[in-house]
Amino acid sequence: MAELRVALVAKRSGAFITGFRSLPQCEIVAVCDPDPAMRQTLGDRAHVPDSGRFADYEDLLERARPDVVVIASPMPFHVPQAIQALDLGVHVLSEVTAAVDLEQCRQLVQAVRRSHAQYMMAENYCYRKPMVLVRALAERGLFGRCYFAEGEYIHDMKHRHHEPDGSLTWRAAWQVGQRGCTYGTHSLAPALECFGPEARVATVSCVGSGMHTDPEHPHDDTVLMLCQLNTGGLIKVRLDMMSNRPHNLTYYSLQGTKGGYEAPRGFGDDHKIWLGENVHPQPLTASAPEWRSLWDYAEDYLPAIWRDPPEEAVRAGHGGGDYFIVHDFVQAVLKGQRPPIDVYRAMDYTVPGLISEQSINQGGVPLPVPDLRDLAQDARHW
Ligand SMILES: NC(=O)c1ccc[n+]([C@@H]2O[C@H](COP(=O)([O-])OP(=O)(O)OC[C@H]3O[C@@H](n4cnc5c(N)ncnc54)[C@H](O)[C@@H]3O)[C@@H](O)[C@H]2O)c1
Repeated sequence: MAELRVALVAKRSGAFITGFRSLPQCEIVAVCDPDPAMRQTLGDRAHVPDSGRFADYEDLLERARPDVVVIASPMPFHVPQAIQALDLGVHVLSEVTAAVDLEQCRQLVQAVRRSHAQYMMAENYCYRKPMVLVRALAERGLFGRCYFAEGEYIHDMKHRHHEPDGSLTWRAAWQVGQRGCTYGTHSLAPALECFGPEARVATVSCVGSGMHTDPEHPHDDTVLMLCQLNTGGLIKVRLDMMSNRPHNLTYYSLQGTKGGYEAPRGFGDDHKIWLGENVHPQPLTASAPEWRSLWDYAEDYLPAIWRDPPEEAVRAGHGGGDYFIVHDFVQAVLKGQRPPIDVYRAMDYTVPGLISEQSINQGGVPLPVPDLRDLAQDARHW
C-alpha cells in the first residue's frame, strides 16, 4: 500500500494528478466536488472508484481518511478546509491565494502551529522554467544586489464572473468584488524569491486605473501594487482581470546593480538578460551593452529539476509548475521537512494583497504589512 493516501478537492486539483501519479509513495484514493459533473470528471481522471467520490468535504475527511488533501476549492474555502484537515493531522497542499482576509491568515497560522501535519501553498508560478533560472542566477549574485522587480498578471476573466443563469460566481465576489490586488501571488511570489529567502514585503501602496471595461464590478481594470521590501528593494505588481485583450503569459522583470532581466512580451520576443561584467570579465568596450537570450545561461546555471524533465512534467499545466510543486510537497511530507512554501512564505505572498485592499481605499497610502511570524501563540491580533 502507498505511504500517502491523497484526496483531491475541487475541479482544479485535477491539475496535480500527473505529479502524484509519478510518485510511487502516493495513491489518489478520493475526490470531492459538490458539482456532480465536476466530481465525475475529476474521479474519472484520477481513476477513483465511486466509493471514493464525495460531494461533501467533511464526509471526505471522515470516510476516506486521507493522509494528504489538495485544496482547490474557491478562495474563501481554502482556510476553513485547511484547518479542518490540519486538526485531523492531514497534510495540506492549498491553492492560491492562501486566505481571503487577515483573520483567516491568523487562524491558518495558528492551525499549522498546533498541527503535526505539513501545510504548503501551491504557488506553481515559482516553478516555471524561466523564473527558476532567473532566481538561480540571482542566488549566485550574478545580478549584483537586486533592487527592483516587476510581476504582471493580465488575464481577461470577465467570462468567469457570471454563472450561466446570470448570478455572480465566487470570482465576482472575491477577485473583482472589491478594490485591490486580490489575486497577486502569481506575480509577486516568483519576483520576491529573487531577493532571497529573508526578503518580504514591508509596506504596500496600491492604486487603480478606475473601473472602465465592466463597471458592474467594484474593481479597477488595472491595479498597481507597489511593494517596498524589508531588504530595501521595490516590486511592482500589476493585476488586470478586466481589460479587453488577449491573455499574456505572466510577465516579470528583475534589476540588480550588475544586470537585468526582462520576460518576453510576445511576437517572437525572447527572455532577455544582461549580466554585464559578471559574465564578460573583460572591461566593457565602447560599444553599448546588448541583451542576450536567458537560455544562454541554462547550461551552466539551470537547476536540476529543469535539466532533463520527464515529458509529462513539461506537458503538465502552468509550464510544469503543477508537476514540480507536487514533488516538493511530497518530499517535505515524507521527510518531515519544512516545505519550500510553508505557511509563513504563503503569508509573505498573500498578506501584501490583503493590505493593498486597505491602501487603495485610502488613496494609495503606504501601509505596513504584518509579518505573521510575529503572531504570538495565543494572540488574537498583531
Ligand atoms: N495556481 C493556478 O495556476 C490556478 C489556476 C486556476 C485556479 N486557481 C485557484 O483554484 C481555485 C479554484 O479555481 P477554479 O478556476 O477551478 O474555479 P471554478 O469556479 O472554475 O471551480 C471551482 C470548483 O470548486 C467546486 N467547489 C465549490 N465549492 C466547493 C467546496 N466547498 N468544496 C469543494 N469544492 C467546491 C465547484 O463545484 C467547482 O467545480 C481558486 O482558489 C483559484 O484561485 C489556481
